[in-house]
Amino acid sequence: MKKRLAALTALAILLICLSACRAAEQEGFEPEAEKHSSNSSAYIVEPKGEDETVVSQTDTSKTSGVFDFESRTVLLNSGYAMPILGLGTYALDHDTCVSSVMALLENGGRLIDTAYMYGNEEAVGEGVRRGMEEYGIPREEIFVITKIYPNQFSDPEVAIDMALNKLDIGYIDMMLLHHPGTNDVKAYQAMEKYVEQGKIRSLGLSNWYVEELTEFLPQVTITPALVQNEIHPYYQEQDVVPFIQEKGIVVQCWYPLGGRGYTADLLGNETIKAIAEAHGVSSAQVILRWDLQRGIVVIPGSSNPDHIRENLDLFGFELTDDEMAEIGELDRGEKHDWY
Ligand SMILES: NC(=O)c1ccc[n+]([C@@H]2O[C@H](COP(=O)([O-])OP(=O)(O)OC[C@H]3O[C@@H](n4cnc5c(N)ncnc54)[C@H](OP(=O)(O)O)[C@@H]3O)[C@@H](O)[C@H]2O)c1
Repeated sequence: MKKRLAALTALAILLICLSACRAAEQEGFEPEAEKHSSNSSAYIVEPKGEDETVVSQTDTSKTSGVFDFESRTVLLNSGYAMPILGLGTYALDHDTCVSSVMALLENGGRLIDTAYMYGNEEAVGEGVRRGMEEYGIPREEIFVITKIYPNQFSDPEVAIDMALNKLDIGYIDMMLLHHPGTNDVKAYQAMEKYVEQGKIRSLGLSNWYVEELTEFLPQVTITPALVQNEIHPYYQEQDVVPFIQEKGIVVQCWYPLGGRGYTADLLGNETIKAIAEAHGVSSAQVILRWDLQRGIVVIPGSSNPDHIRENLDLFGFELTDDEMAEIGELDRGEKHDWY
């Protein structure tokens, strides 16, 4: 009798569980893990042959903000993965920009930085679309960052729609506010709405430092996924970088090679040249690798396909702690642009 009662109780429990699961299914319930991965289009870049890379979907169980040198990506706090190296397009005219973007994509690079202010969002869009078609790259593998400028902050929806139209690549992977300025919170809140609509995937800031971030962050809902600031061996941001990274926000550097007009001095620096010689690489590669080892994403600008290839080739050597410290000693607090 007791046995029969126990069996009946077990059966009743089973039936209750089954009906609860069915009800949950009807309400669109997803187990937490599945929900997490289906919300995310994170991807990884996997080595494929010597120079080629391909990107594939992955789960987002990795820690956000930590560089994965194997996949060459970092998981952002937005749930998306971003390549840790790419191309900057400042000062590239239309045709040069299209061919530079295509050279990047052809050689396995997948991250491109542009801005309203560079006047080349159409060219970046064209390069991306042509690269996708010619090299068979899915849109999901490419990560495009653009920025809206302070003179657009008072009417942010117009600015964002303009960027979406000019790029014409379906959605924007990441949008940044280019500089702090009047109405920056309002502009950021508009970008947050575009994230809800799926038109922008991740948000960030550019030229925001300790004071600006401290004031800005409590005023917004979506924590920025990235801050893009000037960083190179002569201007290292040794206090600002950890301040940002400790918040789970990824740091990306502009002017990694010092910026146009300053590169000769930096690339010719004796310390950097000696380290480059020791590893059989170029000065540019040493600087970019130094950034990566500090957990800083690099977007060197280039109009030269040989440079673009070289700047993607940063994974065949590693700087020692001593070499990292030697480059750390080169900091002069020398900013090469005012913002
Ligand atoms: N958020 C902001 O306020 C802000 C401000 C400035 C820049 N940015 C972004 O940051 C990106 C990087 O900055 P940037 O392009 O101005 O300066 P950069 O990357 O420091 O330097 C670009 C210069 O380096 C040269 N170069 C590139 N690779 C080289 C290599 N392997 N060997 C020798 N020379 C090399 C380029 O010449 P070639 O063309 O001959 O390769 C170009 O003259 C910009 O393109 C832009 O996307 C953002």
